[in-house]
Amino acid sequence: MERTAIYPGSFDPVTNGHIDIIKRGLKLFDKIIVTILENPAKKSLFTVEERVKLLEKSITGNDNIEIASYGGLLVDYAVKRKAHAILRGMRAVSDFEFEFQMALMNRKLNREVQTVFLMTGLRWIFTSSSIIKEAVQFGGDIKSMVPAVVYAELKKKYQLN
Ligand code: PNS
Repeated sequence: MERTAIYPGSFDPVTNGHIDIIKRGLKLFDKIIVTILENPAKKSLFTVEERVKLLEKSITGNDNIEIASYGGLLVDYAVKRKAHAILRGMRAVSDFEFEFQMALMNRKLNREVQTVFLMTGLRWIFTSSSIIKEAVQFGGDIKSMVPAVVYAELKKKYQLN
């Protein structure tokens, strides 16, 4: 039986930390559906279409990775795609409370969908889309934290050369 996981997130934009989780997730699952969902607590910089494109360009040549987007509840999408699990990356302790809350809410909504956490690689522990967006708009060098295509698009968005 093929084991499928949904890897959900805002991906606004995708970072090398996300890519690391996807690659490591593929050691546990046969297929990963990277899914852009709405996080009502966040105002996005890139449109969903732009985020899909950035993910597609950042992750090429692997048939076991699919890029998708969904405008509803994560657990509903997991059922729709017959996924066995939700995959999330956990960085520092500061992530724990939100992740714990979300995993428990998702479990309350659907007990059949399990959440699996992978600890973020030490290299990416301080990498987040939000902090990258903040740093780049003030000229910070974040080149090593995102795929090249994302770096180029971030510079365009903030009209930096
Ligand atoms: O990258 P993020 O912003 O930490 O991802 C959070 C996300 C998008 C996975 C979460 O907000 C989400 O699942 N949104 C869809 C609506 C939903 O199902 N929420 C969880 C139950 S309240």
